[in-house]
Amino acid sequence: KDGGNQRILDAGQKKFGAVQCPECMMVYHVKDPEDELIHVGLHQVVNDTLKFAGWKKERVLRRFNAEGYIIAVHHGDAVHCWKKIENVLTKVVDNELGFSEIGIRNPETTKVYLYIADKKIIGVLVAHGVTQGYRMIPSTGASSGKCCSADPSPALCGISRIWVLPTFRRRKTASRLLDAMRTEFVYGKIISTDELAFSDPTENGLAFAQSYTKR
Ligand code: ACO
Ligand code: ZN
Repeated sequence: KDGGNQRILDAGQKKFGAVQCPECMMVYHVKDPEDELIHVGLHQVVNDTLKFAGWKKERVLRRFNAEGYIIAVHHGDAVHCWKKIENVLTKVVDNELGFSEIGIRNPETTKVYLYIADKKIIGVLVAHGVTQGYRMIPSTGASSGKCCSADPSPALCGISRIWVLPTFRRRKTASRLLDAMRTEFVYGKIISTDELAFSDPTENGLAFAQSYTKR
């Protein structure tokens, strides 16, 4: 049933009945009632946190018909919007990314982009203004695994977090979030892909960033 997700579990875990939920990504043991209970609880928290019934005032950037839409949230927008974002970051996104830092570092220069589909938040992009960053160097296969330049170069926009609900990955959700952000983040300007700086990317994040920035 979840063959794809089982691949990333090591043989040792599998032997003891470990599975990974493809929705909330928790690894748990099917034969351990306590573990299963923890999973049910976490799964529910993730679902509840991502639920999105719509806001009276939404800054809609793009609509993809049946595939949902993208909204932007700016500094100074309603408190309940930022509360929702804070919840999503702490309970879902940062959990998966392994971030322990709570909240948003520079709220004044931060904008958040949400991808909404199926009445829930399926993608999140947190972007902030920066003056310099380390440019991605597309890996050439022959390279030694280095991916960022040693010297800082001018960047306009830092990507501090990008996240897509596991069941919606590899369907261009993250690409669409970045496309929308690049046209909206600085008024009257389209940010080019080499003005983006990805902070501390994960393995997934790196693969995505390398593919996205060299299109
Ligand atoms: N492995 C290899 N290549 C990838 C991967 C991956 N896991 N994900 C994306 N790509 C590349 C592919 O070339 C892909 O095109 P293709 O599907 O036609 O081959 C292209 O990037 C575009 O991918 P999208 O579909 O737009 O990306 P997606 O919506 O799946 O989101 C993301 C990518 C955000 C990295 C997602 O996998 C995720 O949420 N992962 C967990 C959280 C995470 O690690 N986020 C990045 C943290 S780093 C940071 O925030 C600065
Ligand atoms: Zn689950």
